[in-house]
Amino acid sequence: MKIFADTADTQAIGHLSEAGLIDGVTTNPSLIAKSGRNVLDVAREICAMVDGPVSVEVASPDYDGMMKEAAVIADIAANICIKLPLTFDGLRACRALTHQGHKTNVTLCFSVAQALLAAKAGATFVSPFVGRLDDINLDGIELISQIRRVYDNYPELKTEILAASLRTRNHVARVAGIGADAATMPAALIEAMISHPLTDKGLEGFMKDWAATGQSIL
Ligand code: E4P
Repeated sequence: MKIFADTADTQAIGHLSEAGLIDGVTTNPSLIAKSGRNVLDVAREICAMVDGPVSVEVASPDYDGMMKEAAVIADIAANICIKLPLTFDGLRACRALTHQGHKTNVTLCFSVAQALLAAKAGATFVSPFVGRLDDINLDGIELISQIRRVYDNYPELKTEILAASLRTRNHVARVAGIGADAATMPAALIEAMISHPLTDKGLEGFMKDWAATGQSIL
């Protein structure tokens, strides 16, 4: 499963990317607002830091506006993935942009029916939001399972499932178990995935025993 950082924080992206821990980046208008930076500047910087897809979202609600914005976004770099909302206009723009050869990510997906239409529109990725469904007492993980089953029924559908709005290590493990193609999550969650109390405890013991040997490898 590919791991994407869901952030516009270039420092965090650089840190994770240098360690080879991420395969791409997703942003959204709220994350750009949080960065306090110009969307095109930050997108350009991120695209130069990672080889994989970098999703940047259009902000217009209508097809014509989306297409104009998409042309500007697509110009940033070859690894740009144009993010579009799961609306009638967003799906229409997705189809047109896919035909033009661009990578697309249809976002704000909350149902299997929506995911089917995103695939029909030729989306490179569909982003079902796990955490936001959990927030309203629905089962976000179950949605990933259902979309996986439906897509697997129709091998001609090439859209990849990008599990989004992940909040916990358990979310990540479960979507990987289901077979999501990719998962996007905050940088802090990727860092949290590294640690386990038994790893810390084990390492402490090894270091103590090693020091007692008085040896040095170098
Ligand atoms: C997906 O691409 C979105 O940027 C993101 O995962 C939303 O997550 P949130 O629900 O934590 O805002």
